[in-house]
Amino acid sequence: MRSRTISSSNPRSTGPGAPRATGTGHTRAKAILVGEHAVVYGEPAIALPLASLPMRAVARREEGPLTLESVLYSGALSDAPEQLAAPVAAVEATLDHLGLPHRDVVLSTESTIPAARGLGSSAATAGALALALADLAGRTLTAQEHFDLVQVGERVAHGNPSGLDARTTASTEPVWFQAGEIRPLDLALRAHLVVADTGVHGRTRVAVADVRSFRDRHPARGTELIAELGAITRDVVDDLALDRPAELGARMTRAHGALAELGVSSPELDRLVGAALAAGALGAKLTGGGQGGCMLALAADAASAGTIAAALRRAGAARTWLHRTDARRPAAPSAQVPLA
Ligand code: MEV
Repeated sequence: MRSRTISSSNPRSTGPGAPRATGTGHTRAKAILVGEHAVVYGEPAIALPLASLPMRAVARREEGPLTLESVLYSGALSDAPEQLAAPVAAVEATLDHLGLPHRDVVLSTESTIPAARGLGSSAATAGALALALADLAGRTLTAQEHFDLVQVGERVAHGNPSGLDARTTASTEPVWFQAGEIRPLDLALRAHLVVADTGVHGRTRVAVADVRSFRDRHPARGTELIAELGAITRDVVDDLALDRPAELGARMTRAHGALAELGVSSPELDRLVGAALAAGALGAKLTGGGQGGCMLALAADAASAGTIAAALRRAGAARTWLHRTDARRPAAPSAQVPLA
């Protein structure tokens, strides 16, 4: 893999080693296009950063206990609720890594990423906080250092995370991910993705355990389904490079079937997948850990995406977002993991 560094977004950078009064860090949500769950068994996955759902963290010096200000909780980090255990673990690991004391810093996060919906909110939060702390210390994290720090939190959240969320929420480009490493994708596809939230919390930890249990109970079928998801992901690479939306859509729907058989769909996800297909989607599937959370539908053009989004909301989606597959990184400066 190419060597990469992650720099904070602060354009007033004074260079390494110069601590500052505030530090900032930026990450974003992610959507897994294909390959979730199979990626835990070494198969590849393809995921897209969602620039429309950014996460910004700020760290500022202020005497007193280490404090967090966020929508979910404001107060001493040591008293943060269980729901924030992953970012808390990542913050503590980052402070240790930077040699900073666990006090005299106020951390805050700003984001519209819904929590526990398969869009990578825990990795995005941990990642932005790690970048903000590094910026505060006047330091630059390498991509690997950043990944390792976010993974400390992800292990708390998911038990045995593949690293896909940690990598994609730090990236500004769609990624191919396998065995902890990412590489850029050749992406010529011009289509629209509708992301829809079932409104039900996803259960990644339970879903990952359920897939393992399926494999233990049905070893042959479990292995076959995971291999099928891997093969679908490899074929999707060509769909993206050769601008084949119809083929991609069909593969997404097949992937949903395999994931449902592995036990990680839910009635709400199946209903939204059915509603999207009935409204003209080229394909649809759950995204992320599943058993709740979000789904994706592929639309040929903007008009069709609007029709599908409206149908999804009528079918019970709490929220929908639109994402162009040919969207590029935002022009505004932000923390980045350059792929080149
Ligand atoms: C969660 O966003 C994706 C899963 O494949 C778990 C992982 O990769 O660690 C379900």
